[in-house]
Amino acid sequence: MALYSEKVMDHFRNPRNVGSIPDADGVGEAGNPVCGDIMKIYLKIDGGTVTDVKFETFGCGSAIASSSMATELIKGRPLSEALKLTNRAVTEALDGLPPHKLHCSVLAEEAIKLAVKDYYEKNGIEYDKSLFPEAPSCEHCGI
Ligand code: FES
Repeated sequence: MALYSEKVMDHFRNPRNVGSIPDADGVGEAGNPVCGDIMKIYLKIDGGTVTDVKFETFGCGSAIASSSMATELIKGRPLSEALKLTNRAVTEALDGLPPHKLHCSVLAEEAIKLAVKDYYEKNGIEYDKSLFPEAPSCEHCGI
């Protein structure tokens, strides 16, 4: 069996929603201290819905594929759903990642959460702080 699914290869080769949004309503950046890879997510939000999302990822192929898939999963969705996006959901949508690459998908979950938090803080919106743990980590590898 190939190490990477066709979906991973597709999103790695043709990533969706690459770039930045200069007037983003929320920006989140997550980094992996072990490999040094960084993912940045930009959100446009209107009426509680993610109307546009872009990403910049300086990282491995799995991180790029995860960013691409994660942006597709939250685009056009309510913020409440974007906040519930887990790295597991991203991995499943990609038809899986090799076990040693699961932590790469955690960056997408983290960066999206931080972008939503940034939006809440910039706009003085009250939010449930328990939704944003200090240092979310991968349930599989602990990174
Ligand atoms: Fe660093 Fe994949 S190896 S995010």
